[in-house]
Amino acid sequence: MCGIVGYIGNEEAVPVLINGLRKLEYRGYDSAGIAVLGGQGLLVRKSKGVLKVLEEKIGEESASGSLSGSMGIGHTRWATHGEPSDSNSHPHTDVAGKIAVVHNGIIENHAKLKAWLEDHGVGFRSETDTEVIAHLIDFHYNGDLLQAVLEALKRLEGSYALGIICESDPDRIIAVRKESPLVIGAGKGENLIASDVPALLEYTRDVYYLEDREVAVLYRDRVEFYNGEGQSAAKELSHVDWDASAAEKGGYEHFMLKEIHEQPKALTDTLRARIKTYAAKSINLEEIGFDASWAKAGRVVICACGTAWHAGTIGKYAFEHFARIPTDAEIASEYRYRNPIHDPADIFIIISQSGETADTLAAMRMARKAGARIIAITNVVGSTLAREADLVMYTWAGPEIAVASTKAFTTQLMCVYLIALQFGLLRGTITETELNGYIGALEQLAGHAAAILADKENIQRFASRQFNKSKVFFMGRLFDYAVSLESALKLKEISYTHSEAFAAGELKHGPIALVDTSTLVVAICTQSALFDKMDSNIKEVKARGAATLVITYEDVACFDKTADEIFRIPRTCDPLTPILSVIPCQLYAYYCAVQRGLDPDKPRNLAKSVTVE
Ligand code: AGP
Repeated sequence: MCGIVGYIGNEEAVPVLINGLRKLEYRGYDSAGIAVLGGQGLLVRKSKGVLKVLEEKIGEESASGSLSGSMGIGHTRWATHGEPSDSNSHPHTDVAGKIAVVHNGIIENHAKLKAWLEDHGVGFRSETDTEVIAHLIDFHYNGDLLQAVLEALKRLEGSYALGIICESDPDRIIAVRKESPLVIGAGKGENLIASDVPALLEYTRDVYYLEDREVAVLYRDRVEFYNGEGQSAAKELSHVDWDASAAEKGGYEHFMLKEIHEQPKALTDTLRARIKTYAAKSINLEEIGFDASWAKAGRVVICACGTAWHAGTIGKYAFEHFARIPTDAEIASEYRYRNPIHDPADIFIIISQSGETADTLAAMRMARKAGARIIAITNVVGSTLAREADLVMYTWAGPEIAVASTKAFTTQLMCVYLIALQFGLLRGTITETELNGYIGALEQLAGHAAAILADKENIQRFASRQFNKSKVFFMGRLFDYAVSLESALKLKEISYTHSEAFAAGELKHGPIALVDTSTLVVAICTQSALFDKMDSNIKEVKARGAATLVITYEDVACFDKTADEIFRIPRTCDPLTPILSVIPCQLYAYYCAVQRGLDPDKPRNLAKSVTVE
């Protein structure tokens, strides 16, 4: 997720662009850049680092008036392709530096386009997918920028929000949207583009929301709209009533709720470029340099902390289920001091949203010293973990601002499933037909997640009745047990409720002694073969006065007489349910925190990334 801005009007563009980028830094902040068009032609200034680094870089130029112009575009980056660096920062230009582009999204066919352009003599200066766009527009440019853009768009696959300016076309900015958000701000004698409303509010509250495949052409005195075929289109003006803070959260009260709702898109983005759909569906892990020999390993060790370790625990069940390979899910802070037994043939999977967690990095360095092959699953391009691992698979979730991890967790699971399924196919423990079915199920998860989110009021109502419970237990079996671990952590870390998880089969080995009328027990029941076992466990806790909530499939009735409340999720194949069953638990934790008057985004004593032991 990146932040885009653009301005065309009668004021100096640089201050407007910088101001807009500052409002969008929550969308990405590993590098920033601007392109300004004025008397000196098209000038591009960009740098690795937060926006302040760019401001310092252009400070003198801007003050002296030598970086002057009344139109321009800007970008604050969350890297997906190509780690943070000056050359990978946006805007990107054509070879001659006469066309500048800023982009938010993922161009899936960028490798093919880059090869084609290189065959036509184009020299590339970055590792990004975005740069191909600038060269494509230049390739098709014959004096009409709009036509060149429309031609280039026909060849792009993936998601994009674009801002485009051209030195020989100094009176308009072209903006394009496909899946990544883009808003047009309609001012008086000036017009703006931005990824999100916060960047516009200082200049106008009258906006046009671009729809998919729409093109906007911004002049100083008007905005024209076209569809993807270049036919003129009419659009309604909207008026924004949000204040700046609400706008930053997309209208949600907290970043955590916004990020919970971003999961369908994050899942789609994380999955889409890794699935090939020809005659049959297959998994494409070429981008991470995956080698079939990896699947011959004798053991997989997954190592992480906190929520990432919960993803690793689900990974353990997934690797053993799909690939029948012995798999251990290790807590990094334990692993690093346990003098563990390493085998150089092991595959070591390190999961970390931030890629900077001290214990996780230490465990990885230990495994590397022992000769293990390291696959990293992380959300931050250029993070320490990403730079030190042998292979990196990114969760394209975009920045996760809230301390409590939600969309990073479910996209970590998506990555784990993809690797485990590929291992299964290569080891012959699942057939191509079975893989085809599992991929189809993975592709449906984003839609199922959206359906759960559409039903969130049920969870909100339940939380309004239960939020004062002093003890909350989550229980489940197999994959549901691992989701129980994550659910208990979510609730404790943002609502400060004493909550814990246990394998439901362990109930009678101790935890049931704690169950009384002050207890809420959440039973996660999606492992179909064990429904009767779970039904017995639920009856046991009810008999001791506990309130019970069951999370199960929408077409399951066997708990109707047992549970006090049931929250239903769309059916998928049992091993893949964690991506869905965790969402009601994320929402429950969020609503309990809000009911308790707490700030879910900034829970006490916690940091987003634990970079010290
Ligand atoms: C989860 O909600 C917490 N923020 C915490 O457990 C987190 O998952 C843990 O600190 C690991 O962080 P990482 O994924 O950045 O390594």
